[in-house]
Amino acid sequence: MRTKILGTGSFVPEKVLTNFDLEKIVDTSDEWIRTRTGIIERRIADENTPSSELALKASERALDMAKISPDQLDLIIVGTVTPDYMFPSTACILQNKLGARKIMAYDQSAGCTGFIYAIRQADAFIRSGMAKYALAIGVEELTKITNWTDRSTCVLFGDGAGAAVLGPADDEDEAGILATYAAADGSLGDLLIQQAGGSAMPASHESVDKNLHTIYMNGNEVFKHAVRSMEEAALKGLELSGIPMEKLNWLVPHQANIRIIDFLARRLKLPMEQVVVTIDKYGNTSASSIPIALDEAVRDGRIKEGDYVLLVAFGAGFTWGSAMIRW
Ligand code: UT7
Repeated sequence: MRTKILGTGSFVPEKVLTNFDLEKIVDTSDEWIRTRTGIIERRIADENTPSSELALKASERALDMAKISPDQLDLIIVGTVTPDYMFPSTACILQNKLGARKIMAYDQSAGCTGFIYAIRQADAFIRSGMAKYALAIGVEELTKITNWTDRSTCVLFGDGAGAAVLGPADDEDEAGILATYAAADGSLGDLLIQQAGGSAMPASHESVDKNLHTIYMNGNEVFKHAVRSMEEAALKGLELSGIPMEKLNWLVPHQANIRIIDFLARRLKLPMEQVVVTIDKYGNTSASSIPIALDEAVRDGRIKEGDYVLLVAFGAGFTWGSAMIRW
């Protein structure tokens, strides 16, 4: 039995923050940001809009495309490192906002790999028969945990949400998730971390004064691991699915840096025309970057029925993974 993606949806907030806006906040330039990252602008959620609101809009669009109503869902998995609260989970908040039944709903923290982890889990639940229809979401409001005085990180991130509705494929259906792969290496966690706010360092005046509730990243080190791990994840996705590279139609990579994406495409010998890129418009939206890119490429007709689509991610943890999907 195979799991199929029945619908996708995404949502980004209206407010745009350009590189030129950032030039007024920190010592940076549009030229540096464009050439070192590929980012031109990003979206920012306002202070009264929590992650669950972005997730709700993306989910409604995905359910609409799938022609599935919220009360048909058996499972909601939200990948996020910027939940509405430490608890209750954003998935529970979303279950209520959607008006879904009293089904299992949980968040999981896999950084930018959150959506890959979510669809891998949803796939397992569906194929085991424990769920029929599942909603997998990546949502993030990284700009709410950004240190706006640190030019090495504050230029990178944006907010958004992407969702997919998954369900069982018909027997004669060739479309579906062909393989997923996921990995983690906790020994490198300190390189990309929000240090305060958890049980290791509860909130204090000092933690706030020292900006320890914001993102810390050793960019150079993370970059090196990202290129290596994304290549490994991509090759695993090909190997586990048995789909040769020549048959691949689309690569949908995590959008952290255009140089990482370029590197991955070159290693796979895939022309950039077959890579879905949104980093110029949205920056790094962490767990939501892949489902947003996927949804845009599905809706604008680039990804068509029968296409082989490879999703590849890397993120905090470290975590990394991939999914090979026949559309
Ligand atoms: O999503 C999860 C995974 N995340 C990633 O994969 C991100 C991986 N890392 C990266 O994408 C890159 O490392 C960054 C974009 C974060 C940084 O790019 P880089 O080419 O590695 O720059 P760098 O940190 O080596 O810095 C080079 C120079 C430094 O100046 P000096 O020391 O050479 O004088 C920095 O101070 O660029 C300077 N710099 C900036 N200059 C202007 C750093 N940030 C900025 C900035 N504007 N915003």
